[in-house]
Amino acid sequence: MISEPLQRARDFEAEFQRCADVERPFFHLTGPIGWINDPNGFSRYQGHYHLFFQYHPYNTHWGPMHWGHAKSDDLVKWEYLPCAMAPDAPFDQDGCFSGSAIELPDGRQLLLYTGIHNHRRADGVVDCLQQQCVAVGDGINYEKYEGNPVLDISDLPEGYSEIDFRDPKLWKDGDKYYAVISSRPPDGSGAILLYESEDCFHWHFVTVLAMCRNEYGKMWECPDFFPLDGRQVLFASPMAMRRDGLEFHAGYGNLAIIGDYDKENHIFSRQQVQAVDYGLDFYAHQSMETPDGRRVMIAWMQNWATVQNQKENIRLFGQMTLPRELSIRNGRLYQNPIRELEAYRGKCTRYDRLRLNGTCTLDGIRGRVMDMTIKVSSCGDQLYQRFFLTVAQDSTHGAEIRYTPHDGVLRIERSASGGRFDIVHHRKFQTAGGGSVKLRIIMDRNCVELFVNDGAQAASFLLYDEGDADGVLFKADGNVMLDVEHYSLDF
Ligand code: FRU
Repeated sequence: MISEPLQRARDFEAEFQRCADVERPFFHLTGPIGWINDPNGFSRYQGHYHLFFQYHPYNTHWGPMHWGHAKSDDLVKWEYLPCAMAPDAPFDQDGCFSGSAIELPDGRQLLLYTGIHNHRRADGVVDCLQQQCVAVGDGINYEKYEGNPVLDISDLPEGYSEIDFRDPKLWKDGDKYYAVISSRPPDGSGAILLYESEDCFHWHFVTVLAMCRNEYGKMWECPDFFPLDGRQVLFASPMAMRRDGLEFHAGYGNLAIIGDYDKENHIFSRQQVQAVDYGLDFYAHQSMETPDGRRVMIAWMQNWATVQNQKENIRLFGQMTLPRELSIRNGRLYQNPIRELEAYRGKCTRYDRLRLNGTCTLDGIRGRVMDMTIKVSSCGDQLYQRFFLTVAQDSTHGAEIRYTPHDGVLRIERSASGGRFDIVHHRKFQTAGGGSVKLRIIMDRNCVELFVNDGAQAASFLLYDEGDADGVLFKADGNVMLDVEHYSLDF
């Protein structure tokens, strides 16, 4: 049965989706229309990739959360499916918040998500109560389970917050299902709770898997937990981070906690904590495993701190990153663009062992939809002072990537890329350093994703210009040697 709020959302997107086409990037997924935030239910179902997302079709601002829906065969090109869920039941009447999806043994697709309902207390304060709910369907239409909620405040450990209990990410291990869910312990910071189920409909609390202890922000939103290259990774998106050197910036952050997991006793021991993306626009990362065994992550390419700063007269707001393949090397998380993107590479322009001291542009190297890799190295023994790469450049615009080899600091700066708001426009982060650095830039109109040194680091950022500035400028203070490989991307 399709409820009136769901039908209304479906009719709205069917009618207005076309109007937003002019604004759409080519391969960074947006909503059909309106606003999106977190990726949800990133998974395989009946031979296709499915992605759902936090969705408010009616305007470009956050509102009562629906689940939008798209599917793909290669994680690059997406096809929209009708809106999957609207807030239309007593247990989710104020929003269907983030969650995950899985294919059940009987062939149905199950969505596990957070249902929201607002409750006015006697003193007038409104609490946003959060509980976990289930819906099952055929990949298009979903029925909400009559036994919802499947987890409520009575399933929380003593003293944990019922107004911060959300974002279940589930997986199957052997014949059991598990889910990690965010909440807040009595110290007011964040924690990740582990739940277990035999059938995805009946869940029980197992343990507190990880605690924030006010070390890395407060509430940890959108957890994910998976094995990778013999280790175990916990993802979280912390609110209210404090700056820590060049690793973490203040505000909404993103974490990968790498450790070991004793599955029998459900003990996760944390060894290494790092940021996942060092750019400006990245949050709520979620992963899945592809049929050939790759762990692939996607994230909301946006940040809550800047969402009020929108261009005028837009029909779309929010997009996903390109999915990234994950691995662990030398105890750190590496990430590279999904290899399926390479099938879209068009014309190749290449320059080998080009010497530069000063500024240059190169014939054939420009564009707003491209996949470009640049290797910078020193000429001889002397270290250059700085290397600059400017993309989306014309006489008044340009987004700059600056590398200083002596300290290995990489800086991105987009203040000259059309922004009209007084928001953060630059970020610095630490790379391995030294004279050699490799930069891969994936550009899709206003979306830029930078991968450094074969995926040792990534930085995502949006540009706010009109999209016409398409120059690429190279500049070196000192002598550098450049190898440039530039592909147009054809869609
Ligand atoms: C993270 C988040 C989630 C929540 C959703 C609501 O961006 O705040 O914790 O489920 O967005 O849209």
